[in-house]
Amino acid sequence: MNVAPTPQVPNYGSVLQGRTALVTGAASGIGEAIAAHLRSAGARVALADRSPRVVAVSESLNRTIGPDSVPVVFDAASEDSVIAGVDEAITVLGRIDILVTSHGILTESPVEQMSLATWEETLSVDLTSVFLLNRAVLKGMLARGDGRIINVASQLGQKGGSGMAHYAAAKAGVIAMTKSLAMEVSAQGVLVNAIAPGPIETPMVAGISEEWKAEKRAELPLGRFGTVDEVAPTAVMLASSPGGNIYVGQTLGPNSGDVML
Ligand SMILES: NC(=O)c1ccc[n+]([C@@H]2O[C@H](COP(=O)([O-])OP(=O)(O)OC[C@H]3O[C@@H](n4cnc5c(N)ncnc54)[C@H](O)[C@@H]3O)[C@@H](O)[C@H]2O)c1
Repeated sequence: MNVAPTPQVPNYGSVLQGRTALVTGAASGIGEAIAAHLRSAGARVALADRSPRVVAVSESLNRTIGPDSVPVVFDAASEDSVIAGVDEAITVLGRIDILVTSHGILTESPVEQMSLATWEETLSVDLTSVFLLNRAVLKGMLARGDGRIINVASQLGQKGGSGMAHYAAAKAGVIAMTKSLAMEVSAQGVLVNAIAPGPIETPMVAGISEEWKAEKRAELPLGRFGTVDEVAPTAVMLASSPGGNIYVGQTLGPNSGDVML
């Protein structure tokens, strides 16, 4: 999916000039868009993914926005890989001011038929990885008394999803972890929040059954799925100052009205 850079990316001016960011899931979909929007707002960005496509995405941003993005290929579900990948990003960028976790996987399976392997893989990639990444950037952020962590959850983590108990449980875990970490570190200058998008047109959703998508569309007050460029500005706002300064442990919902809190 081509999301970078204009005309979809708004003119943010230099709201993130001088800031550095690590964005996971940046080879595709929402993460790719968030990386483009942060870059467009002036941040230097490390684009992370387990897919080597992230190299081409980073090169594309360098051509279109300017030469301040770098690719980092690692598996967010592996502790060693996360530590090495975050170290690599810090070496290139000097530090990480902003972490956005936007990688993830989604499969459909009724609980009755779900294997333990499917459950465990989803919890590992969609939840444990978020803990690993948050922990890996915290040391530097706490030492500087400055940082923004933005975890991409899902509205299914708030309302549940038939056939998606594993995914919904992982995303509910991301929301609860975000709140808990926010309580631990906000007084030390590190602000932790979540974004829980509703259905967004990305390769992830392309894999879901047409039946599920038709039902979902009919449920939405807005009557349509969102686009990646309608989610990414929320990340820019949370990462920026003063816009993001007093968001602590929140779950923001660009979700077509699927969940109203
Ligand atoms: N698309 C939606 O409707 C929707 C809705 C709510 C939440 N989300 C969440 O938004 C995030 C992005 O989803 P998307 O729709 O852009 O999906 P996507 O499939 O387009 O992109 C996900 C990216 O994550 C990467 N990835 C997967 N496992 C990884 C791992 N172990 N290590 C590193 N990278 C890994 C993939 O390679 C891919 O590039 C996910 O957390 C997803 O759960 C998506």
